Amino acid sequence: MRVRWATLQGAPRAFLAVQARRGEPLARLLVGPERGGDPYPLIRQIRARGRLARTSIAWATADHEICRTALRDNRFKVANPANMNLPKPINWLIRHTDPQLPNPAEPPSMLQVDPPDHARYRRPVAHAFTPRAVDKLRTRIIEVADQLLDRLEAAPHPDLIADFAAPLPAEIIAEVLGVPEEVRSQMLERGEAGAPLLDIGVSWKTFRRGMQALQEGDREFGDHIERLRVEPGDDIFSHIIREGDLSRRELAATAMLLAGAGFETTVNLIGNAIVLLLQHQDQLAMLREDPDLWPGAVEEVLRLEAPVQMTSRTTACDLELAGHHLAAHQTIALLLGGANRDPQVFAEPDRFDIARVNAKDHLSFSGGVHACLGASLARMEAAIALRALFERFTDLQLDGTPTPHGLATLRGFRHIPATTASRSARRTPT
Ligand code: HEM
Repeated sequence: MRVRWATLQGAPRAFLAVQARRGEPLARLLVGPERGGDPYPLIRQIRARGRLARTSIAWATADHEICRTALRDNRFKVANPANMNLPKPINWLIRHTDPQLPNPAEPPSMLQVDPPDHARYRRPVAHAFTPRAVDKLRTRIIEVADQLLDRLEAAPHPDLIADFAAPLPAEIIAEVLGVPEEVRSQMLERGEAGAPLLDIGVSWKTFRRGMQALQEGDREFGDHIERLRVEPGDDIFSHIIREGDLSRRELAATAMLLAGAGFETTVNLIGNAIVLLLQHQDQLAMLREDPDLWPGAVEEVLRLEAPVQMTSRTTACDLELAGHHLAAHQTIALLLGGANRDPQVFAEPDRFDIARVNAKDHLSFSGGVHACLGASLARMEAAIALRALFERFTDLQLDGTPTPHGLATLRGFRHIPATTASRSARRTPT
């Protein structure tokens, strides 16, 4: 495992650290002291170098149109080692140290597979995530949000991540996967340990912890898949098992991807929204005045603080892009959080404006063949949860500075200390 870490993470970590010390903004985003802090000054530096910047690490862009093109154009492939033309010994090491674990950031996770194979993994999931299946989760989301808010009434100083933003999507994704009650809390812990694996250049300790979480998840999802094959439930994952022709390993990879993608991103969306709204009371007042503005507010939070800040692609052939020649197998970092603040597309891009008419043009759910399959579920969860929270607690306030969780790819908070001083009359006992 150490050799694999050294090849995939340790060596890039050392290289990135040197580049970060030299001031390379992309390296500083990935491993610098700024990681997980405020990425936007560094993104502005990258933007200042042109629509497509050649950095010492890879090509990088915060340009909305270029990101959109790279996501939709089949001359770009996913950035996995097989597409990168790495030196033969490195490829050998990667192949021979593969622990065959369901890592959402490695094939056969559909995120890291190109067409045509990609369709085999994606199709059963897309078929199971019908608008009807997603809408059926609405009642459960309302129920879970209400239970969590009832508990918050007895906690005047809650952490709005641990006590609200995290348990809600965890419960819903467990419902999607048909996971029994007793293992749901472990799923949360595993998600936290596995999330850093989406970054590049993670430490050995973080990598080892993430791999352990994957090992445990693999065991548990393996047993779970066997159970559902014999006794399918009415959950979305049972439909995926029934309708696809995926092997046990491929199903475990799909389950881990859904667990990770469904939980780690949505908790950040809800957390980012809570902080933004508490810091912009004028915007919150507009929502209290007109609750129909909630869906637009969720889009604006997605735009301004993209929960997935970046992804990457490699060129499948030589091509011209934004006046540059890119050879085949080159990597391009697509800074989605930067594209969402592209001044060519969004007026006053750094301003939080819940009534922004084109907020929905953000790229937070990616695009093209890998466009997020859970976008409508995430939107629905966030709109229901946030509205319920702010309607129940009319005087909710931050009680200290929220702590960011310090990752490069995922943007969000680990803790949001708050006070729930007063509640709406609706729930106050008379
Ligand atoms: C705010 C919440 C969410 C955000 C910001 C988000 C973002 C993303 C992004 C950026 C990608 C594509 C990455 C790339 O192109 O390289 C993606 C893919 C995906 N997401 Fe989400 N996601 C969210 C919620 C969810 C939920 C709730 C689910 C499922 C329950 C989900 C399932 C997936 C799946 C299965 C893929 C892989 C699609 C493919 O590769 O074909 N996501 N998501």
